[in-house]
Amino acid sequence: MGSNTALPPAPSHFPARPQFQGFQKPGGVEADVSNLEVYGHIPADIDGTFYRVMPDPQFPPFIENDPWFNGDGSISAFRLTQGRASYRQRYVRTEKFVREREARRALLGKYRNKFTDAVEFKIRTTANTNVVHFNGKLLALKEDAPPYAMDPETLETIGLETFKGQLPSLTFTAHPKFDPDTGEMICFGYEARGDGTPDVCYYRVAPDGTFLETVWLVSPVAAMIHDFAVTENWVVFPLIPQVCDLERMRRGGEHWEWSPETPFYIGILPRVGGRPEDVRWFRHPNCFPGHSSNAYEDEAGRIVFDLGLSEKNVFFWWPDKDGNAPSPETLHSQLTRITIDPRSEDLELTAAKNVKVLEGSNSEFYRVDDRFAMRKYRHSFFDMMDPSLGTNFPAIAPVLGGGYPLYNSLAHFDIETGETEVYFPGPTHMVQEPVFIPRKGSGEEGDGYLLALVNNYASMGSELHLLDTKDFTKVVAKILLPVRLRAGLHGNWVDAADVRK
Ligand SMILES: [Fe+2]
Repeated sequence: MGSNTALPPAPSHFPARPQFQGFQKPGGVEADVSNLEVYGHIPADIDGTFYRVMPDPQFPPFIENDPWFNGDGSISAFRLTQGRASYRQRYVRTEKFVREREARRALLGKYRNKFTDAVEFKIRTTANTNVVHFNGKLLALKEDAPPYAMDPETLETIGLETFKGQLPSLTFTAHPKFDPDTGEMICFGYEARGDGTPDVCYYRVAPDGTFLETVWLVSPVAAMIHDFAVTENWVVFPLIPQVCDLERMRRGGEHWEWSPETPFYIGILPRVGGRPEDVRWFRHPNCFPGHSSNAYEDEAGRIVFDLGLSEKNVFFWWPDKDGNAPSPETLHSQLTRITIDPRSEDLELTAAKNVKVLEGSNSEFYRVDDRFAMRKYRHSFFDMMDPSLGTNFPAIAPVLGGGYPLYNSLAHFDIETGETEVYFPGPTHMVQEPVFIPRKGSGEEGDGYLLALVNNYASMGSELHLLDTKDFTKVVAKILLPVRLRAGLHGNWVDAADVRK
């Protein structure tokens, strides 16, 4: 790095933009709190840790209108045991984080555009999208790089995880899937040979970290593949019609641009023993695929794939080439079932033939009882936005902050009965992604607890709300945090018994 005079100016405060104001004001907090205040009671059979990650920029960006999720990954660990709760918060020590701390300023430029950085990074990830527990380590994930490994207890960063050099791809999904029977981790990376490449690398990892199989694919377009799905015999890759163009990036433009002409492609590959030429790209009319709920195969061998589907571009901050983007309040994502015959000659997916809305509410962040992942399931839990529930929008509007979608309730959808139960946390509250905790000793699907971080705009503090799925509409415990945690992305429950294994 040369003289500092060559660097772009570093602002000393966060911009006056919604994504950096109100509840979304970056906190920069690392903390150890040995005992959290509990209202209600934490059932004695709950023993484990809820890990989640949020983007929380350490330094104000020098990029104009930086999106809210370009911040440094900061991990929360909420430990629940013996009816008590404690809390730890640590940043992931990524290369970006460490070098910016040394320089005492932002050095990273635009979201996923290395050509706009103030210095050259080897790995420029923020590790801010998901945190999973695998083979004794926490993996902090963002889809643009390999994971960063962390100590599950201390949240100390161990370093970049390349699986002892086995990782063949430059990238690693933020949504790996875990087979509940075998413990196998199923992953992929897209733009796997670098920015703008259409290469997708699929790999399976044994519970001890040994790579079992790698398949290199070429996708029809260099597009975002955020979440995906796995069944007993198949892997499903949904392509979001946000496309990458290296030339645009070189000119200092965005990594992504919405492409209304691009279909919603779904790639299908055999889960085991597939060859590059075995992938089949099904096509659905242009729309925006969100997060997966689950996937499985029906009696006829068809893939049943449940996900959030929106007609419009949910990532409205990356418009099309003419600058068109929907206004955020017009977005509506619905839990949708897509059924695909993986052996069909007909690659066109149509509303009449293949698509059915399961639950019409505006919803996202679907979670299931992970013991039923990849197999036929009945229960989906998710975040929901229903303005009719009584949110006091005028009261909270001045402190909401912005830049991210809001959900004011948690929902439990029973696919078999078609019924939806709703938990409304209060008129001055919004919810983040929930996790499901199985009840000890019960193998019944969906029998247990739901735990979610809740933003309280009256207190301007964060809370955990714990629900019993057998009495879903009432809260069992509210656990108050002495801090405000801005919008996060994903997290997972890790049972103490699974750590001891
Ligand atoms: Fe995600």
